[in-house]
Amino acid sequence: MCGIVGYVGPRDAAAILMDGLARLEYRGYDSAGIAVLNETGAMRLEKRAGKLENLTQALVGATMTGTPGIAHTRWATHGRPNDLNAHPHLDCHDAIAVVHNGIIENYLELRQELTARGHQLHSETDTEVLAHLLEIEMAHDGDLAAAMRRMLPRLRGAYAIVAMAVAQPDMLVGARSDVPLIVGLGTGEAFFASDITAILRYTRRMVTLHDGEVATITPQGLILCRLDGSPVMREPLTVDWDAQMAEKGGYDHFLLKEIMEQPIAVRRALQGRVREEQGMLQPWLEDFQTWVATGKLATIRRIVLLACGTSLYAAQIARAQLTRWARLPVEAVVASEYRYEDPVVGPDVLVIAITQSGETADTIAAVRLARAAGAPVIGITNSVGSALTHEVDVTLYLQAGPEISVPATKTFVASLVVLTLLSLSLARAATAGQVSRYDGVGPSDRELPDASVTANTAEIRDKALSEERFSLKNTGLDASGISAILSELEMVPALMDEDLEIATQDFSIVRQVARSLARCQSVMFIGRGVGQVIASEGALKLKEVSYIHAESYPAGELKHGPIALLDPDTPLVAIATASATYQKIVSNIQEVRARNARIIAVATQGDAEISEHADDVIFVPAIDELLTPLLAIIPLQLMAYYTARERGCAIDQPRNLAKSVTVE
Ligand code: F6R
Repeated sequence: MCGIVGYVGPRDAAAILMDGLARLEYRGYDSAGIAVLNETGAMRLEKRAGKLENLTQALVGATMTGTPGIAHTRWATHGRPNDLNAHPHLDCHDAIAVVHNGIIENYLELRQELTARGHQLHSETDTEVLAHLLEIEMAHDGDLAAAMRRMLPRLRGAYAIVAMAVAQPDMLVGARSDVPLIVGLGTGEAFFASDITAILRYTRRMVTLHDGEVATITPQGLILCRLDGSPVMREPLTVDWDAQMAEKGGYDHFLLKEIMEQPIAVRRALQGRVREEQGMLQPWLEDFQTWVATGKLATIRRIVLLACGTSLYAAQIARAQLTRWARLPVEAVVASEYRYEDPVVGPDVLVIAITQSGETADTIAAVRLARAAGAPVIGITNSVGSALTHEVDVTLYLQAGPEISVPATKTFVASLVVLTLLSLSLARAATAGQVSRYDGVGPSDRELPDASVTANTAEIRDKALSEERFSLKNTGLDASGISAILSELEMVPALMDEDLEIATQDFSIVRQVARSLARCQSVMFIGRGVGQVIASEGALKLKEVSYIHAESYPAGELKHGPIALLDPDTPLVAIATASATYQKIVSNIQEVRARNARIIAVATQGDAEISEHADDVIFVPAIDELLTPLLAIIPLQLMAYYTARERGCAIDQPRNLAKSVTVE
């Protein structure tokens, strides 16, 4: 949401800023603007509502030369998305320009005060007050950084702010609170940006700002200090992404490129995290091992996974893995709800927060609450130095490379890989007695009749265990079980290649299905177990890129209401991959077929039965049931992509969506 770019250095700022804004488009925005100090030191400003192209057109023939400069893409919160409300905003004398992401909660109060003092404010935004407050503060000593330090304590809310002043043309000053802002360090030049993708072409050396710090950048580098003026020393990080990773690389859309990159994303997520020990493969997450060594894990009684959207679906799959493999009590909670449900949380609850952007406000807020209650927190993110990393005890990076398209794809599978490794690490710790398993009796012992009660007990038990063999008799994974899962996990990139090849062949079944879905008003998705989570993620992908209404249900729930919606115009996508509940899903499909709905099934290669029950079948390679989501999600992502293409939708930047949701 909203994007900031700032440049100070010897080059003309405008081209660099416009290029940076283009690379931030994926964050979501509805207007854009740029301000540059020209050769005579005067402020030049252009702002336009709508797409960046409108601003580009406005700059044709305009003499937007000089340096430094700041630029912004705005996602409207206060005031409509029009030219006037677009950033940058100026003070009374066109001497200070400000861009801002986030929300200034007390802006009305500040605005009244400024108006009473004779300041003229022209826009409906909360941001404009910042330019005027800086004007007042700068009048004291002419120092923009000092003015910023004096202004910040007056603000309530969340913000990333970058300012530029005619009086100090060799610098930009920035600060943040709960909203991302980084500094990029080049040679003889420096940058501000909302995220590294905006400036990857120029530098990979970056410094993340923390709340309560003020950063001054000049061609010579960065001066970082706290609000009291005391200096802060922070070494720059070097990100291992390169500029090419943030290009389309010959694909029509980033979404397709990122879907196709998933085998690489899985390889990268696994990199350095599996090793051979005593002849067996073991998950090796260095940070996690520290927890084992310090005994931190020994106190854990329960696990809470926190996330939103697609990351929440990754969490739900991890929940199934932790339950089955580690036998630990675990819940996956919608982060935006967590704070308001008065959660039972303390030092014996291990919190695992998943957010690819590392900036999702709801997830960060939930983490803060848990941490304040003493819970140890592991954060999983793709974004080096993001807000999440400042809030957690341990960060595990996805290592997926930049994801530009708004819908999450490769970060989803990378999250699944990291969560799988974490689940296996916890299973291993549970086997070694480093974390306590749930002590009660397993469901198989509780639910099945006692052997002495009836003559056919053994028969009943055998039947139950063969149908639900994974979930009922499970006692967690031992070392060889962990090793077996890891071997399969290591095969995933190769299986994904196969999966993608089948799914993307010309005139493949996926494209055929997409063509028929493109004409529908509504699509229903069902599944069981992790299949139901795949169904939910498939429905989310379809609705967000193609704008077709899509709902997902646990298959058993269909007949409790949603089946009423089915008719020949409402297709059903059923996740019918090999699992303990395969026969049950087949029964659900038959119930639907009896209502004449078209059935599209995702099934495991080698399944000879499914074609009798479904109109279209998309096969995926066979793998352990709890790893299936890594493979079964691919045809659903492609189905969403091709459906959206058929419908001519804005695939990489769906309407109303933003890549990083920094407001609650
Ligand atoms: C869906 C999608 C969103 C995000 C959600 C959380 O394709 O991208 O649902 O998954 O906004 O984002 P992160 O993972 O950045 O916290």
